[in-house]
This record gives sequence, C-alpha cells and structure tokens, in this order.
Amino acid sequence: MELKYSSGNINELPVGAVVYFVSEFDKIPKNLKALDDCCGNAITDLLKTTEFTGKNGEISVLRNVDCFKAMKVILLGVGAKKSLNHDSFRKAMGILSRHKSLTSIGRAVFYFDGFEDASFYQGTIEGYLLGSFKLLDYKSGDDKKSKNFLKEITFAVDNKKHLKRLEKAVTQGQIIAEGQLLARTLGLMPSNYFTPIDFAEKAKELAKKYKFKCRILDEAAIEKEKMGALLAVSKGSVEPPRFIICEYKGGPANRDPIVLVGKGVTFDSGGISLKAGLNMGDMKGDMCGGGVVLSAITTAARLGIQQNIVALIPTVENMPSGHATKPGDIHVSRKGLTIENINTDAEGRLILADALDYANKFNPQAVIDVATLTGATLYILGYAGIPIMGNNDKIKDQFRSAADNTAEKVWELPIWDEHRDQMKSSIADLQNSGGRAAGTITAGAFLENFIGDWPWLHVDIAYVDQEPSGKAYVPKGITGIGMRLLVSTLQNWKKV
Ligand code: BES
Ligand code: MN
Ligand code: ZN
Repeated sequence: MELKYSSGNINELPVGAVVYFVSEFDKIPKNLKALDDCCGNAITDLLKTTEFTGKNGEISVLRNVDCFKAMKVILLGVGAKKSLNHDSFRKAMGILSRHKSLTSIGRAVFYFDGFEDASFYQGTIEGYLLGSFKLLDYKSGDDKKSKNFLKEITFAVDNKKHLKRLEKAVTQGQIIAEGQLLARTLGLMPSNYFTPIDFAEKAKELAKKYKFKCRILDEAAIEKEKMGALLAVSKGSVEPPRFIICEYKGGPANRDPIVLVGKGVTFDSGGISLKAGLNMGDMKGDMCGGGVVLSAITTAARLGIQQNIVALIPTVENMPSGHATKPGDIHVSRKGLTIENINTDAEGRLILADALDYANKFNPQAVIDVATLTGATLYILGYAGIPIMGNNDKIKDQFRSAADNTAEKVWELPIWDEHRDQMKSSIADLQNSGGRAAGTITAGAFLENFIGDWPWLHVDIAYVDQEPSGKAYVPKGITGIGMRLLVSTLQNWKKV
C-alpha cells in the first residue's frame, strides 16, 4: 500500500474515489453545501429519505459529481460530532475497508474536511489496515490473489499547516496496525507451519530486520537453566521447545528494562488430560500471548520507543504421548518451587512460571505477561474485554489509560488469600490447578509465586484472542488483541 499526503485541491485528483468523512447531521452542513450543489442535490435527497445521515459506518456513493475529477465520491459516516474519537474513525473505516466501492478501485483520497485531531488520522489508517486484513497464504490458484485492488491512498487535509501532523499520525498508525496484523498472522498459522522452532526463527528474522537483539535457548540450554516446569510440558511432543529472548534498547543504557513475557504454546491439545475435540483446532492460537509480545517489541523498535524492552517467550507444543507428563507428576521449577501436575491442560502457567523467574536476570523495572491462559475468562467478560491482575496500581492505571487509547477493554480481578490457598498442594509446594472455581484468578495466584520483587501485571487474553463473528475492524478469527495495548503502554510509560 502506497500512502501519500496532500493539502492541495483534491477536486483535481484523477482517482477512483474521494472518501469524505461526514459526522451526523440533520441539515446539510456548510462544508457539504458545495458538494451537494455539484451532485444535483443528491445529499439533500439522502437526508430526506434518511438513507444517509452520517451515522457511524454509513456509506453512500455519489457518482458523476461535476466538480470532481474522481470517478465517485464516497460519503462515510463517522457518527455524532460530540462523541467522536479515534475509534469512531477506526470503526467507520474498518467497515468501508471491505466495501466494494473502495476495494474495486486502485487509488483513493481520504479527505478530512474539518477534522483536525491527529488521533482521527491514526484511527483511520488503523481501521483500514485492520479491517481489510485477510490471510491468503494458505489458499491456492486464483483464491490466493487479493480481491482488494486499492493500491494507493492519499490522505488529504485542507490546511497545509496540518500536513506534518497528518503524515506523522498516519505513519505511526500504519506501523502499529502492521504490528497487530503480524500478531494475527502468527496466531492464524497452523501448528504444522508454526512450531516452537519456527517461532524462534521468526523472532530472529524480525530482530535482524528491525535491529534489535534476539537469542534462542534450545532444549539443552533450557535444561541447563533447570526450567523443569517448561520441560515437563514439552516432553510429550516430538517438537523440541525453545526459549526466545529479545532485547530492544531505546532508552538510556543504564535504565532497567520493562520485561514482556508471552505464552507461546504452538498447539495445546491438553496433553494426557486431553481436550474435547470440538474447536480443538483453535488451540493453534495458544501462542497468541507470545505473538503479541513479539509483535509489540518489533513495533517498539520500528517506532523507536525510548524504553529498554525485553521480550521473553517460552514456546512449546503440549501433546499426549508415551513421553508425556502425566497427571499426578511433580515438577521442580527453575525457582525451586515444586509443582504437582493436577491437570496437564493447565500447561501455560507452567511455562510462564519458569519464564517469570528467568525475568529476574534482567533486573526489570516492571514485568507484564500476556497469555491465553484460562477458558474461564469466557464466563467473566466474554469476548468483550480482558481480565487483568497484578500487584501495582500504577501499572494498572497506565494499562487502563492505554486501553482507552486503543479501545481494547480491560477489567481488574483481585487475587485474594482464598485464591492463593486453592493453589497449594498437599504433597508439593503448589498445584497447577485449583479446580473450576475462580479459574482465571487462581491461574494468576499461581503465577504470583514466581514473580520477583517487581511490579507485575498479568493479562489473560483467552477467548478475546479470537473474534467469533466479525466486527468493524476485527474480521472473524484471530484478533491480535493486546498488541496495540502494549505499544500504547510502552509509548506513554511512566516509572512505576
Ligand atoms: N489454552 C488454554 C486456555 C484457553 C481455553 C484459551 C480456550 C483460549 C480458549 C489453557 O491452557 C487451558 O487449557 N486452561 C485450562 C486450565 C484448567 C485445566 C485448570 C482451562 O481453562 O480449562
Ligand atoms: Mn491447556
Ligand atoms: Zn493452553
């Protein structure tokens, strides 16, 4: 996609379409009068019949508009003026991004008439790129070819003095949306194309391209680190585990890093505690936490965020076999705490336990882990939001304001002593399952045993990592949720 910028006379541009952002109106607004005049008062008619009144996501196509060289003018409603924000533009453009009026042409102008907020510009490119995403890698023949013919977008404003802000906001939105698309792509890749070894290769490739450091611990190195909890999970699979360590230094050399930890289970069959068959294929997405974390550090490097960031991704495949860990087994974690394996399907917390302990090596100023950890999230917030837990109010506040920026909702859950007690084993220090009650919280209570003396935030993206039906800028499938949240948190980071 080629992006251009203009403050010139858009009427003269010989493009397929000019997209006009229009907020909700009950009489023709001043800035649309001229347009209405030169299309035979088509907008007046649309208003009369209530066919188009500027509600968010409404689309109307005007053809043969005399005063434009463009083939057509597309009116795109963004909603009520007083409640407009970045997400209004993300949503409206997300809907238009798949509309044939736009995808059938090669070049378009996005015209911001009277909209001067930079977050609207950023929301628009994010909405376009996120909404039009379609993974074609696994199609063949003609189906592999994109049916979206749009190749060039010119972002246009009236006033030359807004041009720099426009370009900056759109460039930033493009990089951030591409980060989320990377997270989606990794999550959609089936486990036979994306093993722990592939994950590690991908991390190295991105690190090389965007100039940050990346080291991989192979199985022998993981054994040397005594990551007994992680190794217990990977034992059942023929795919060996990997431990990915990425480091990006955008801040002063002596500043402690923010460490991101992501669950990287490339397939979660449940192990010997085998899952039921229905929708088991979704568990190829059980590495989404790791995918989001890798995409976030990549995006941070591309944006040049001025923080030191470490990404740790333990990656394994959880499979049943003659080699597999069995319920009742006891594992010795890297930290030395012993864990009774009540349910081999509670594998995520085992690999995260060793990764959180490994984070101590970096003397972190804070640690944020992201994981598709518990199915119980479905009964708490459903597909609508992300449960978070942690030990530091300042991180939670920063994360909540990031969530306001990105329109990814988060909600805090408590961890109480009752929940901690649920995770105690009668014969080992801990057990990996506390039963059904408060399943999302008890997973957090388990992880808490492995954190060091630092502020910590746990982000459970189970279920919200998938969109069941399709929304304005989130097509059905893997969402890449959490990637924009992390990046926004890092961009606005204040010491906690
Ligand atoms: N990867 C799953 C959680 C999950 C379920 C993510 C559905 C997305 C959609 C996790 O490893 C798991 O199996 N958790 C168990 C834990 C239980 C055995 C204590 C769960 O939530 O049922
Ligand atoms: Mn599991
Ligand atoms: Zn899992």
